[in-house]
Amino acid sequence: MATLNVANRTLFIGDNLPILRGINSESVDLIATDPPFNKGVKAFEGITKAGENVSYKDVWTWGDVQAEWTNEILGNHPALYSVIQAANASAGDDMGAFLCWLAVRVLECHRILKPTGSMYLHIDHTAHAYAKAMMDAIFGRKNFRNEIVWAYTGPQRALGHFPRKHDTILFYSKGDKWVFNRDAIRIPSKWNELGGFSKDGVKRKNRGKVPEDWWHMTFGPNTKERMGYPTQKPLAVYERIIKASSNEGDVVLDPFAGCATTCVAAERLGRKWIGIDINEEATGVIRDRLQGEVSKSMAWKTLVKTPKKPPKRTDGGAPAAPELRVISRKRNARRWSVKEVRETLLGENGQRCQGCGWEPPYPDYLQIDHKKPRSLGGADEMDNYTLLCDPCNRLKSNKLTLNELRDVRVEEGRVDAVWWAEERWR
Ligand SMILES: C[S@@+](CC[C@H](N)C(=O)[O-])C[C@H]1O[C@@H](n2cnc3c(N)ncnc32)[C@H](O)[C@@H]1O
Repeated sequence: MATLNVANRTLFIGDNLPILRGINSESVDLIATDPPFNKGVKAFEGITKAGENVSYKDVWTWGDVQAEWTNEILGNHPALYSVIQAANASAGDDMGAFLCWLAVRVLECHRILKPTGSMYLHIDHTAHAYAKAMMDAIFGRKNFRNEIVWAYTGPQRALGHFPRKHDTILFYSKGDKWVFNRDAIRIPSKWNELGGFSKDGVKRKNRGKVPEDWWHMTFGPNTKERMGYPTQKPLAVYERIIKASSNEGDVVLDPFAGCATTCVAAERLGRKWIGIDINEEATGVIRDRLQGEVSKSMAWKTLVKTPKKPPKRTDGGAPAAPELRVISRKRNARRWSVKEVRETLLGENGQRCQGCGWEPPYPDYLQIDHKKPRSLGGADEMDNYTLLCDPCNRLKSNKLTLNELRDVRVEEGRVDAVWWAEERWR
C-alpha cells in the first residue's frame, strides 16, 4: 500500500480533479464529501461570519465536460458509460453532464482509497437515483453499505408535493473488509439489544443502540455553528460518519470541502485530514472555524497548509486494484452473432460512425470494429465492439484504439471536441 504524499491539515484551493489525480493510490482511509447536487442554481450565495461573499455554481452542461473524461469512461468503464447514457436519456442533458463531471472525480476517489477504506457521498433527491447507479458502477453493488437519510425540519412552501426535507448519504466500502466502529456511535435506547437479563437473572447494562439509517438532526438557520457558507452541513452528521468509518490517526479526505465541516469534525476526533475546495473563501473560514470549534490557542494559520500546486504522486502512478476498474456487464459473458452486435450498437449509438460522427444513409455503410484492437489485447466482447465508416476503419486498422482514432479526427478538425463529448452520451 502506498504512503500518503500530502501532509496532514492540508487545504487545497482549486478544481479537485488535478489535485485528486496527484494523490497516491490506496493512501486514504475515508472520503466523506458533499458535492454540488445539480440543483440548476447559477450561484449559491452567502456571506461568511468574516463578511466575505461566497458563491458557487450548481448548474451543468456538456460544455463543463472534457473529451478526455468521456474517452476515459467510454474506454475503461462500460457500466458507468451506460449509467450516464441512461441519466442523459431519462433526465436530460444537465443530468448526464453532471454525472460525467462527478464520475471522473469519484473514479479518482475510488483509486485513492485504501482497500479497507469507505466513501460517503452526500446528495439530495435531484440526482440521488442517478448517483446511486453511478456509485454501483464504480464501487460495485456488492460494496453498497447504506443509504443514510439525513432528515431535518424547516419551512418550505410546497404546493402539490410534500416538503422536501431530507438528504441522502450513500455509503460504500471499497472492498469486503472495512472499518465500522459500532460502539463509537451508539445512542441511548429504551430497549436493551442484549435482552434485559442474563441467563442467571443478572440485569444487563443497556449499551444503547447503533443508530438506524435515518438520522433526524436539526440544523436551523440560526444555529451557532453556522458560518454563513451556503449549503453548510452539520458537524454532528460528519462526526458520526467519521467515528463509524475511521480510527484515530486515520486520514479523512473531503474533495468538496466547502466551509470544511468534514475537516473540522476530523480534527476534533483526532483524525488527519485533507480538504479541497474551488472557492478561495474556504481558507479563511476553516481557520476561523478551527479556532472557534477546536482550540483557540493553536496556531492554525501555520498549522493549516494551503499549497498553491496539486501534489505530485510518489507511487510511480500505480493504479489501484485494477480488477475493480472495469466492472464488466453481463452482456460480455457470452458470444454474440454479427447480427446481434450490429443491432445492439445501432440501437445504442444510432446510425453513426463512432470515429468521425458521420451519419451514413444506410446502416450497411458501418463496419464492426474492435475499440481496442485484438492485436493490442482487445477482447471479443460486446463492450469492445463499435461501428465505424470505411475510412475510419482503415485509418484505425489494428494500430489505434477508438479513443486514439477520435483524437486524430478531433485534431483534423473533422469533429468538434465539445460536440463529441455531448454526442457520445446520446
Ligand atoms: C455542497 S457544498 C459543500 C458544503 C460542505 N459540506 C460544508 O459543510 O460546508 C459543495 C462545495 O463544492 C465546491 N466545489 C464545486 N466544484 C468544485 C470543484 N471542481 N473542485 C473543488 N470544489 C468544488 C463548492 O465551492 C462548494 O463549496
